[in-house]
Amino acid sequence: MVSLDQIVEDAKRDFSSAVDAAALEDAKARYLGKSGLLTERLKALGGMSVDERKSAGAQINQAKSAVEQALLERRQSLSNAVMLERLSAEAIDVSLPGRGQSSGSLHPVMRTWERVEAIFHSIGFDVADGPEIENDWFNFTALNSPENHPARSMQDTFYVDGKDSTGKPLLLRTHTSPIQVRYASEHVQRFAAQAVMPPIQVIAPGRTYRVDSDATHSPMFHQVEGLWIGEDVSFADLKGVYTHFLRTFFETDQLQVRFRPSYFPFTEPSAEIDMAFSSGRLAGRWLEISGAGQVHPNVLKNMGIDPERYMGFAFGSGLERLTMLRYGIEDLRLFFENDLRFLAQFPA
Ligand code: DAH
Repeated sequence: MVSLDQIVEDAKRDFSSAVDAAALEDAKARYLGKSGLLTERLKALGGMSVDERKSAGAQINQAKSAVEQALLERRQSLSNAVMLERLSAEAIDVSLPGRGQSSGSLHPVMRTWERVEAIFHSIGFDVADGPEIENDWFNFTALNSPENHPARSMQDTFYVDGKDSTGKPLLLRTHTSPIQVRYASEHVQRFAAQAVMPPIQVIAPGRTYRVDSDATHSPMFHQVEGLWIGEDVSFADLKGVYTHFLRTFFETDQLQVRFRPSYFPFTEPSAEIDMAFSSGRLAGRWLEISGAGQVHPNVLKNMGIDPERYMGFAFGSGLERLTMLRYGIEDLRLFFENDLRFLAQFPA
């Protein structure tokens, strides 16, 4: 009969020549399985006398633990090998140069938005906001736009299903002018107890919407509204403020500004503001840049302000237009196509 030592030796050899986990399990079965060599030896103990069984049992168990130990070691080294193989297959080459962090930047229209805020802030203007879903009152009626005004037609305005809590039709605001009325009415209430109302001096940049889409119109675009009301805020102040704004925005004093008579329901008199650069690609060409005017007495009344006592000006300019002129961009649609080749030209 083969000696126990021989069995242990054979087992060790078989285990170490097993190339993978499956081969190792097969080898294990030959020694420790149901009819494995050592299992058979243990079974045979039953036919021995008590004394024989004691010493033979001890020896068999010793051999069994040696085989089990060898099995465990081989299992461990096989799984280490698998792990090493995986590690080397999935290795990361830390010597490769990195790809670098790409940093985002502000959309050019947002740059203009922030620039406009900073300029007006520096000359004492507050910055206000208002809802993009407006009601009929703030967007049209309070701004002295008669019921049959063409700006109300279905072609121009996105109407929204449903009505507001006061039963007024809802729409996407067609301009930032409704913020004039919202801001001024709140201002009037806040200072109602004072004999003289402090001046209202505010700009309101924001998104606006119209049913319009071509190279120079987008259904969503941006405007900035301006409003300055006090006891003696005149058209001359409008000219001074707006000219200062344009010269600061375009970083040049070599800029001409003219006020051309126009019509808006919410101002009287009304003007279209044009500007012309003195040098560069667009030199000498008059470019329309903003609507403006003295706030109409009816609008002042709708704000809760006495038109006999207070007066002021308002303007509304397109942020896309300002951006296009500042950077020499020719097609408005570039702003909305999200093409990184365009957007990456405006680093932070
Ligand atoms: N709300 C006008 C528009 O969208 C622009 C405008 C013109 C605003 C004159 C004003 C203003 O405040 O006084 O066409």
